[in-house]
This record gives sequence, structure tokens and C-alpha cells, in this order.
Amino acid sequence: MTADAIKARIRTVPDFPKKGIQFRDITTLLADGEALAMSVQELARLSRTGQFDSVAGIEARGFIFGTALAIQLGLGFIPLRKGGKLPVETIGEDYSLEYGIARLELDPSLIATGERVLLVDDLLATGGTAIAGANLLRRAGAVVDRALFVIDLPELGGAKALAAHGLNAEAVVT
Ligand code: PRP
Ligand code: ADE
Repeated sequence: MTADAIKARIRTVPDFPKKGIQFRDITTLLADGEALAMSVQELARLSRTGQFDSVAGIEARGFIFGTALAIQLGLGFIPLRKGGKLPVETIGEDYSLEYGIARLELDPSLIATGERVLLVDDLLATGGTAIAGANLLRRAGAVVDRALFVIDLPELGGAKALAAHGLNAEAVVT
């Protein structure tokens, strides 16, 4: 299965969650076993040019691909959760994304100083979410310089925004 075949499994829904947004719905990809497996394999292939101690994923859709990739690489998984979900003391970052504002939180005790963390999410749009995730991981002592996505929407400038924050971004499909 090629990148084009993976792309064909992603459904575009206009005007969700707001007018003017072309929402890339991955549920159709997730429901297709071959497309799901190939997406994770492609993330694993992209990750091979780096050395990582763990994989961090962003709630909610980043948990699906991040956990699958962590298992594939034999690494642990660090959840970056939306605000108010973790039962322990957290550090947090408020940020803007393509269609709103949100907050991510991390339990910093999950990170060892100097730990090399690979950041994973399903989709890169403006980059606000991934930059907030990298900031949190770095505040906890991690080294974060790579981020992988299943989908990049290049017209929204996310990869450039990430580069300005010292993050190299790659995606399975654009
Ligand atoms: C979506 C997506 C990314 C983020 C990308 O998450 O899963 O995390 O938006 O947007 P950005 O590049 O403009 O920051 P969303 O906040 O909708 O949460 P969900 O995974 O819970 O659906
Ligand atoms: N997150 C940010 N922008 C998005 C989009 N256009 N589709 C799906 N998720 C998104």
C-alpha cells in the first residue's frame, strides 16, 4: 500500500468543527487494517534515522499512532494530555490550533533529564499543538528535535513553525 492509498483512506469533512475548516477525519483510515498497519510502519521507517528513548503522543488522536509506534520500536509511551486529566502535579502549556485554543499537560516525573523523545501526532496543521508538546517535554528535561505525523497540511505552515522551534517535522502523507 502506497502513501496515495493511505491518503485515500482519510475522509475530508467540510466546515467541521467550524465553517471554513476542511477536517481530515482519520476514523476511516483507522477502520482499515491494512491502512492502519501501513501508517504505523511508515512512521517507524521515518523514525529510523534517529535514536530515541521514548515516544510521546498528543491526546487524543496522537495516542493511537504514538502508542502503536512505541510498541513497534520497543519503547515506552509518554502521554501529553489535555488539561485537567492527570491525577498528579503537572506542568502545562496553553496554545492555539487551527480551530481553537487548548491546553496540554505532562507529568514531568515521567521524563529523565536528557531523555531523547520522539513526538508523534496524527496531523500537523498550524503546528501550535506540537510546539506546545515539545515545550512541555523540554521543560521536563527531554531532548526533542523530531516530530512525526501521519498527515501534514503544508498550506498551514506547521513544518516551518516547528523548524523555528528546533523541531524537524516529517509526515507519511501531505
Ligand atoms: C488536532 C490534531 C492535532 C492538532 C493539530 O487535535 O490531532 O493534535 O489538532 O493542529 P495544529 O497543528 O493547528 O496545532 P485536536 O485538538 O482537535 O484534538 P483531538 O485529537 O482530541 O481530536
Ligand atoms: N487539527 C487541526 N486542523 C485539523 C484539520 N484540518 N483536520 C483534522 N484535524 C485538525
